[in-house]
Amino acid sequence: MLSKRLLAVLDYLAVDDYVADIGCDHGYLMASAIDKGLKKVQLIDNKISPLNVAKKNLASYDAKAHIKYTLSDGLKEIDKGVNVACICGMGGDLIAKIISDEKEKAKKLSYLVLAPNSKVANLHQMLNKLGFSIVDEKIVEDHNKFYFIMKVSYGVPSLPLNDIEISYGKYQLIKEKDVYSKYLMLEKQRLETILKQNKLSDTLKKNFNNELSKIEVIINETK
Ligand SMILES: C[S@@+](CC[C@H](N)C(=O)[O-])C[C@H]1O[C@@H](n2cnc3c(N)ncnc32)[C@H](O)[C@@H]1O
Repeated sequence: MLSKRLLAVLDYLAVDDYVADIGCDHGYLMASAIDKGLKKVQLIDNKISPLNVAKKNLASYDAKAHIKYTLSDGLKEIDKGVNVACICGMGGDLIAKIISDEKEKAKKLSYLVLAPNSKVANLHQMLNKLGFSIVDEKIVEDHNKFYFIMKVSYGVPSLPLNDIEISYGKYQLIKEKDVYSKYLMLEKQRLETILKQNKLSDTLKKNFNNELSKIEVIINETK
């Protein structure tokens, strides 16, 4: 059974997509994608041992789909017909690097599904810089951790993310209202607790108060 996080990623994939899973590790996401009905998948990892584990885990799937395994870095060797890339379970900075290293390839994809496990704001910022748009975004709580999952495309007319959206996602699109409210409330409490300790430099204090104001704006706008 896939984690809640990877189920949210799977939800974005359509049966006629040819998907490359960058950093496939165990290969569970593409196994479930084949179960969902996808007929072509490429599993990419830059380390041989996870790729071999994925091959073992998907051995019984050979007859159901065309499966390609590639030992490679990021998007460098995505197959010609691939129209979707998933880059999940890595830090936001690494995902940003993988996209910017091969931005021409990334721009040609129909969409990318990104699930950073940290540094979400940095990833949002880089997507803005490269001209990618967030066409949809979800939040998932999995084992007491919150994950933003985003569907991203190049060349879709939309405004760049503003400062609030860079920090807290494209909140107008997030449908998981209860999870998102819980995330904002916990984030607000975390910032307030640190501020109360009164140990921050003036610059950090200003940054923390700025983040709190952004959270207030979202709470007021989404009431
Ligand atoms: C923590 S696992 C995430 C697995 C899965 N995608 C998930 O979300 O559960 C990260 C995987 O990414 C691979 N990886 C890290 N950097 C990579 C890169 N530049 N190109 C391809 N794979 C990479 C690692 O070897 C590892 O198997």
